[in-house]
Amino acid sequence: MKVRFVSSLVFMFWTGAALAAGPAVTPDLIAKGKESYTTNCLLCHGEAGDGNGPAGSAMNPKPRDFVKDKFKKGDKPDAVFKVVSDGLKDTSMTGYAHLPVEERWAVTHYLLTFRAKK
Ligand code: HEC
Repeated sequence: MKVRFVSSLVFMFWTGAALAAGPAVTPDLIAKGKESYTTNCLLCHGEAGDGNGPAGSAMNPKPRDFVKDKFKKGDKPDAVFKVVSDGLKDTSMTGYAHLPVEERWAVTHYLLTFRAKK
């Protein structure tokens, strides 16, 4: 009984920590991210992630070019996840906190695949 209780606590901690760091980056996660990106982000950020989506070119500030622009909040996955969740104040980049956590991680890792390797 006691062992069970302790092991379920350990499990809860483990899943909590796993969610905080984001799920493992697998081809499946990237595929889910692409799907979400196409639905939610492509219009502004463009199919190639260069900020030239159909609605993006007329915007000021322009949507981020994921390939080569500097990210205001940095391009570490956890920083990007936060922007995807909360948005950037006073810009057309609104938050996507209504999307499930896993989908936000998926789209975060998908958009980072556009990033030019340094
Ligand atoms: C309505 C247009 C629009 C849509 C849709 C949109 N964005 Fe953006 N996004 C922007 C704009 C504009 C900026 C740049 C804002 C600025 O320069 O401060 C931006 C910036 C960003 C940044 C850069 C953050 C940083 O720190 O510089 C990320 C990451 C991002 N968007 C991700 C996404 C994701 C993921 C989606 C879809 C879930 C999405 N955006 C949908 C307009 C959009």
